[in-house]
Parts: sequence; C-alpha cells; structure tokens
Amino acid sequence: MATEGLDEDRLRRLIEVGRALVQQLDLEALLTQIADVAREVTGARYAAIGVLDDVRAELERFLARGIDVETRARIGDLPRGHGILGLLIRDPRPLRLHDLREHPRSYGFPPHHPPMRSFLGVPIVVRGRAWGNLYLTDKRDGDFDAADEEAAVILADWAAVAIDNAGRFEQQRLRDTLAAAEQERRRWARELHDETLQGLGGLQMLLSSALRRSEPEQVERAIRAAVGEIGTEIEKLRTLITELRPAALDELGLQPALESLADRVAAVEGVVVETDVALEGAAGEAGRLSPALETALYRLVQEALTNVVKHAHAERVEVAVRARDGRVELTVRDDGRGFDPEAPRGGFGLIGMQERVVLAGGSLEVRSAPGAGTTVHAILRADGPRSGGYAPADGGAPTPLP
Ligand SMILES: Nc1ncnc2c1ncn2[C@@H]1O[C@H](COP(=O)(O)OP(=O)(O)O)[C@@H](O)[C@H]1O
Ligand SMILES: [Mg+2]
Repeated sequence: MATEGLDEDRLRRLIEVGRALVQQLDLEALLTQIADVAREVTGARYAAIGVLDDVRAELERFLARGIDVETRARIGDLPRGHGILGLLIRDPRPLRLHDLREHPRSYGFPPHHPPMRSFLGVPIVVRGRAWGNLYLTDKRDGDFDAADEEAAVILADWAAVAIDNAGRFEQQRLRDTLAAAEQERRRWARELHDETLQGLGGLQMLLSSALRRSEPEQVERAIRAAVGEIGTEIEKLRTLITELRPAALDELGLQPALESLADRVAAVEGVVVETDVALEGAAGEAGRLSPALETALYRLVQEALTNVVKHAHAERVEVAVRARDGRVELTVRDDGRGFDPEAPRGGFGLIGMQERVVLAGGSLEVRSAPGAGTTVHAILRADGPRSGGYAPADGGAPTPLP
C-alpha cells in the first residue's frame, strides 16, 4: 500500500484507531467513532456515514457529525443518496471534489443546510459488498488532497472489518437468545412429561383397575385414592404454572411475587432465603414499576435462585432489590461453593440473564470464586431502555491528535 502522502503521525493515529474500532461491538457507537476520526485525520468540518438499503439504490440511514442538533432539525429530511451522494452509490470509488455545488450532478442544498464546498467520499465495502459510504465535506484549509483520500480509504477499510465484526457479534447474541428460549421450552416439556404426564398415567391405571373390581368397598377405596392423587397433581401443576408466569406478579406486584418465590424455594429446597425489597425510589403511582421491568427483575431473581439451588450448595441466600436515583439495583448473594466466572461454561442461564439486562438498558456483574459464594449484581434503568435510533449529530469538536 503506497503511503507517501500520509505523514507518520496520521498513519500512527490510523493504526491506533483501527485497534479501537474492531473492539467496538455496538454499531451505532462504531459509526459515530468512524465519522469523528475521519473528521480529525482529514481536517473536514463535517463527516457523515450513509448506509445503503438492501438493494443498494438509496441510503437507508444517514449519520452526520459536525452539525448541531438544531441545524439538523431545521434541515429536515436526511439525504437519501441523490445528487452527489448518489455518484458513490452507483460507482463505489473514492471521489474528491473541489466544490460539490459546481458538479453537474449537484442538486444544491436544502434551505438551512450549512454551506459545504470541498468533498471527499469513499465507499465502505464489507466482505465484497458495498455497505455504505463515508462522506467528508468542507476541509478547514483548502481542498482534500491525495493523503486525505488515502486516510479515508484506510479508515473505510477498518470500518468494514469492524462493521463485519459487530454484525457477527449481534448474530451470535441472537443465536444465544434463541438457544436459551429453546432450552427453556425443553425444560418445561421435561417437567410436564415427568410430573404431570406420569401422574395422569398413574391415575388412569388406578381408575381402570377400579373398574374391574366388583366389591363396592374396593371401588370406593380406589376412587378415594384417585381423588387424593388428583389433589397432588393439581398442586404440582399450580406450582408449574406459577413458575411459568406468577399471577402475583401481575396482580400484586414485584415485592409479593418475589417473597412468594423465595418462600417456595425455601420450602422446597431447604435453604434460607432472605428478601429485602424497597421500590419506593422508582415505583410509579400504584407503587409499581413498569411491567417489563418487574418481569425482568423477577426472571433475574428466578434464574439466580435456580442456579443457587442447582449449583451452589448454599445455606443462605439474600435477595435485595432497591430502587434509587432512577435505577433499580438487584443483588442475589449466596454463601455456596462459588465458581470461576471466567471459565467457559455450557449453560444458558447466565447468558439469558445478561441478555435480559442489556435489553432493559442495564448492566450485570457476576462475582464469584471457588469456595467464596456467588453474588449476582444487576443495575437497571427504572425508566427502561433508552430509545434506540440514530445518534444525532452533536457538532462536537474532533478529538485532537495525540
Ligand atoms: N450460584 C452459583 N453457585 C455456584 N456455581 C454457579 C452459580 N451460578 C452459576 N454457577 C456456575 O455457572 C454455570 C453456568 O450457569 P448457567 O449459565 O445458569 O447454566 P446452567 O445452570 O444451565 O449450568 C453453572 O453450570 C455453574 O457451574
Ligand atoms: Mg442456570
């Protein structure tokens, strides 16, 4: 690769930036970072990344940096990729212009658009497929030169690797989520098979044999036994249904639902479960959190307790949920045998918890060591996940060169 135009500082900066980019797994943040670095290394006042739609005819998304939020709002619709931006879509090769308004393909700018003169555009090609374009405009001193173009091309290459990487990561997360859901279904199928189906089979045998009896006392005894059996089965089924979706969670709220979950675990597993729930700091009118947040917290506690019962051999578990400063903090701490959280594992429980917390806009930490018990700690936003969508241009100054 010829690098004669690029001075050593910029080259070093590009290499260093590449490392950071490929570690960024959040596409939104990644694109923002790329645009900002592109401004920094080329001296462009504005940078934007346009993402092509599936048929690569138009821009599906457009992320601009260097324009403040008010200006951006006044301009209105985002560019779709006509005019100059369309040139790069039809012919994905670097394009440098002294004045984009003078180009025959120029449509001119919409009202309130800041004036832009010099232009440099390079395609972002991900695995041989045009993915989008990086656009730079209005170099602070003069026109974009060959070295700027080279820097932008290198950056677009880095971007392609990082975008591919982030995409794969996203796919893996999706696969994990699906696998976790499948495992959950398998568990219920097993439970229904082992408990309910077996119970009903037993009942059927009991009643069939009663049919063959002639002595009224024998028939009566068999029916009494069957009625008792049915009572037990109803109880088991009720427990199963409660685990699937506790009515208390919908009707009474998180605190009673957690307390009854803790009581069930304590009664069935013979472990001491302490609950400490304080939601005043975030609960709404009726003392309730949002249904999504209540469900997330309940499922997190349920999964954590399942793990304690299954793996920890603990004597005591503490479940604490506290709301304050717009956040809800959850801690499940056991005094069991612990494990090495860094070691690779096969289960989906912890992955599912992580996924749930991310979806709720929070963070999860599992602290444990062999012999030292386990603490699951989650922090969730009380107002739910931040709305998605594109980061607005913020007009921030480019980060200075090191
Ligand atoms: N509270 C705990 N105490 C001890 N070990 C635990 C605890 N929670 C999780 N683990 C360990 O982490 C592993 C992964 O847990 P998880 O993802 O829920 O999968 P699974 O429960 O299906 O094995 C468990 O197999 C166990 O070795
Ligand atoms: Mg588990």
